[in-house]
Amino acid sequence: MRIAVYPGSFDPITNGHLDIIRRSAKLYDRVIVGVLDNIDKKPVFSVEERRSMIEQVITEFDNVSCDTFSGLLVDFAKQNHASVIVKGLRTVADFEYELQMALLNKALNPEFETMFLMTDTKYSYISSSMVKGVAKYHGELEGLVPHSIIRLIEEKYQ
Ligand code: PNS
Repeated sequence: MRIAVYPGSFDPITNGHLDIIRRSAKLYDRVIVGVLDNIDKKPVFSVEERRSMIEQVITEFDNVSCDTFSGLLVDFAKQNHASVIVKGLRTVADFEYELQMALLNKALNPEFETMFLMTDTKYSYISSSMVKGVAKYHGELEGLVPHSIIRLIEEKYQ
């Protein structure tokens, strides 16, 4: 059984994240979306709100689940018997940071491989920060995030 962990802040989940989930669900037997309970980053959405939005959109996959974690990613991966960490890459700027994290995670625990999926060009400009920027000024969120969570995001910015 090949289990992958797809970690992130998901503040909130975007269509770009969902595309990575969809594609990794085809590559691995199980995918666990790991939502970091990150107090340092001061997320707009609480960890439970972020998890609940993800749970709404992963119902279409029967091998994807979601859980929250705090502490080290490699520990979360180990607890879940995962062998792979999946990350999405959009830009060269992402690459530098992701390479550093992948090397650090390898140093912390060499059991895990980090697999990078290149973003679909349709989603390459979408990030959670961009979504929050648009939501703040009541712009159109359709196409940026899954349809079913748009209302929830809009409510947050009312
Ligand atoms: O969506 P993000 O904010 O880019 O995700 C970053 C995340 C959650 C993957 C990263 O911050 C992480 O793995 N944090 C867990 C703590 C950890 O393991 N730190 C050491 C490696 S950076």
